[in-house]
Amino acid sequence: MTPRLSFTELIDHHPGQTADLLAAKVLRQACDLMAADAGTLFVARHVRGETHLEPSAAYPETGEPRAAAPVPAEVQQAMRTGAAVLDPDGRGGAFPLTNHGGETVGVVALVRHDGGLSEAPRDLFVRFCRLAGAAVERADLLERIGADPATTDERLRDQVETLARIDVPDGMRGDDAFRLTISMLARAAEIYDEGTGNHVYRVNEYSHLLARTLGQDEKYCHRLRYSAQLHDVGKMSVSPAILRKSGDLTPDERREMDNHTVYGHRILSKSPRLDMAAEIALNHHEKWDGSGYPNGIAGEDIPLSARIVQMADIYDALRSRRAYKPAFDHARTREIILTGDERVDTAGHFDPRLVEAFAASEAEFARIWDEMTDG
Ligand SMILES: [Fe+2]
Ligand SMILES: [Fe+2]
Repeated sequence: MTPRLSFTELIDHHPGQTADLLAAKVLRQACDLMAADAGTLFVARHVRGETHLEPSAAYPETGEPRAAAPVPAEVQQAMRTGAAVLDPDGRGGAFPLTNHGGETVGVVALVRHDGGLSEAPRDLFVRFCRLAGAAVERADLLERIGADPATTDERLRDQVETLARIDVPDGMRGDDAFRLTISMLARAAEIYDEGTGNHVYRVNEYSHLLARTLGQDEKYCHRLRYSAQLHDVGKMSVSPAILRKSGDLTPDERREMDNHTVYGHRILSKSPRLDMAAEIALNHHEKWDGSGYPNGIAGEDIPLSARIVQMADIYDALRSRRAYKPAFDHARTREIILTGDERVDTAGHFDPRLVEAFAASEAEFARIWDEMTDG
């Protein structure tokens, strides 16, 4: 069975919310990346040997029945050829969504009414479409994985790893291309997680702030600022059945969840420019007293980058509403980090230097949260 057939088969058998919600998120992000003000995401369905495109998400939401509009010719062409079709005036385009195997699983049509689409390098947007296509595809694997967790994971993991190898296309200015690629990777990873909006960008900024407060040099601060956002990239390799389980995890499931650190490291250590990101992914759940995971290392054995990102990540998690907790305001969050509560053990979890750095810069944390709040 080809991946595309299994994907559409799963959609047809499980017309649940997951795929639609995910499609809406993917579309929002595609609009963001290309500066589009409207778009539609079409998913390919195979019925009796014929391929149909069905609208799965629209932005802005119209509230109208989606199937009513005919599928535009350029969308059909993008589906048929697997290549992007751009309007001559640059205001719109149809971009194929592909899975890891390179098969077209849908099309995103984007329009910008008051100007041209973003000049963001198209090669990189294509790569986003591949990650996004794979994400939509994977959402539909959820039920099957839920029924039989062992079968698909090894293969999916390999696919994610193959895809995550960062190679900057020829002829592009290296730094910009590289930065954009990893930011897309972070966004794609986010799609798998709790829908945490700007979380990864805020973590970049808090981390940068802490590094500066600690007096790290410019180069270190710069690297940390783009590496921090990838801390949870390994969650792409954790079974969605576990990632999205609402009740308590079994010990096995917990172990698999904790492995996002190891998976992230495995994905990121394939690119030499991401070695800081790789060490962060591996170590951001280690604790100062050695009670963390995956290796239970302690103190200065934990790379500074990971100690910084851990504090940034915890601040943001405390400020955010999660399934198991309400959102806390800055004052409460500050209190918890500086003195601890039933979840956070300040002396056990954090490098004392970082607690000091947080105390010295906490007002800036509040500013970053306010400025980059989830819209
Ligand atoms: Fe994590
Ligand atoms: Fe995080």
